[in-house]
Amino acid sequence: MRYIGVDLGTSAVKLLLMTGEGEILKIVSREYPVSFPKNGWSEQDPEDWYKQTVDGIKELVASTGDGEIAGISVAGQMHGLVTLDSDDKVIRKAILWNDGRSQEESDYLNNEIGKRKLTELTGNISYAGFTAPKILWMQKNEPENFKRISKIMLPKDYLTYMFTGVCASDPSDASGTLFYDVKNRCWSKEMCDILGITEAQLPKVFESYEKVGEVKPELCKELGITSTCIVAAGAGDNAGAAVGMGIVGEGKCNISLGTSGTVFISSNSFSEDFENHLHSFAHSDGAYHVMGCILSAASCNKWWLEEICETNDYGREGGLIKEDNLGKNRIYFLPYLMGERSPINDTDARSAFVGMSMDTSRGEMTQAVYEGVSFALRDCLEAAKEMGIDVKESCVCGGGSKSKIWLKILSDILGIRLSQTDNTEGPSFGAAILASVANGEYKSVEEACSKLIKVTQSVDPDAEQVKLYEERYQEYKKIYPALKETYAFIAGRRD
Ligand code: XUL
Repeated sequence: MRYIGVDLGTSAVKLLLMTGEGEILKIVSREYPVSFPKNGWSEQDPEDWYKQTVDGIKELVASTGDGEIAGISVAGQMHGLVTLDSDDKVIRKAILWNDGRSQEESDYLNNEIGKRKLTELTGNISYAGFTAPKILWMQKNEPENFKRISKIMLPKDYLTYMFTGVCASDPSDASGTLFYDVKNRCWSKEMCDILGITEAQLPKVFESYEKVGEVKPELCKELGITSTCIVAAGAGDNAGAAVGMGIVGEGKCNISLGTSGTVFISSNSFSEDFENHLHSFAHSDGAYHVMGCILSAASCNKWWLEEICETNDYGREGGLIKEDNLGKNRIYFLPYLMGERSPINDTDARSAFVGMSMDTSRGEMTQAVYEGVSFALRDCLEAAKEMGIDVKESCVCGGGSKSKIWLKILSDILGIRLSQTDNTEGPSFGAAILASVANGEYKSVEEACSKLIKVTQSVDPDAEQVKLYEERYQEYKKIYPALKETYAFIAGRRD
């Protein structure tokens, strides 16, 4: 049997064709634009996601020769607000996970409703990137659009709906809305009341590895699928990536170096970060996880190389980093190009290079970008430590993990072993696994992971470098507090 796993990312959709035994037969991807209509805003057109996904599926199906696909599922960018009217038309572009426009609404939820109440109802506090404050923003700023809302869904749920006609979500993705009761795995009626929405507007929640429906016959025809093709509920991209990397069960960690950067720690039971630096979310294996999310990770590198240095030659630029400068770079970089979520929760924060002189080279600045993102991920690990979780090793996936030098820097800054499996496509592989479990190929997500995923290589921290980077990390931590007021001034939030 064959399965298709879809990773609905921010820069592209990546699709993977897998056999029931976990062999990856083909990977394709299709890009789409992100628009930044204002500083700190980010939007995408759900119809672009659908068109490009259909195109990618067609290519995968054509490669099979017989068109037999047993199941599909999607792991998608989280938190985005997708709204449909009563004719199932997309009302406005989706407001994405890294969009900071709803800071005021998020402040209202945290301060007026109160962090304590939010945590009681949902397990989490509000962040501007979460879905709930976006709904309040739309209610206030686009009342005509708000009134037209018939369905509210997350990005991947839009694809599932288009495939099957079933409006469905899953606990891992629903967790990032702030109107889902994570601990009890159901929508929160009280949060819906606070937001002025009803449960009737929300998707039905299935576990990630459950069948939601089947691909509509007319769509099967268009895609070239000749068999009955089930669709599983799928997952948020980080929970999907965790499955794709075998991060299920108690206390395992995956770090994703994608457009965002995440530290994802799986857990058999629900736990809260009382400091609210990390998110307490449901996992796609039926259990839970805590997660820190930095809004710009590999996207910092993309911005620096493509926008600023005007090159696509990532290999050449990485090669300009001198080994003997590792742990000794005089340049620092704050990776807050879209503000920051974990742990500082500041939409006004922005990036900075610090410490340049006339002899500073491009290689040193590229190195600073890798280091800045790694320091920000270290901040998330420190927050986990405060919760009593001491991560000793981690898997790593995402586009950024293809850079050997970046992995070495990250391992030295975190002081832990980083392991990779034979593919870096965590979310799409995880999604294909979820589809295979939904189709009865495996008894559980855990069983599928233990049979299908093997670590193939690891990077160990170098004790000498760990010491050098520890000193640099302590210095790095002073930069954001020193600039915080300036960022508020730049954002016009301070006189
Ligand atoms: C997680 C988050 C991001 C997006 C990126 O909370 O916001 O990782 O899911 O796709």
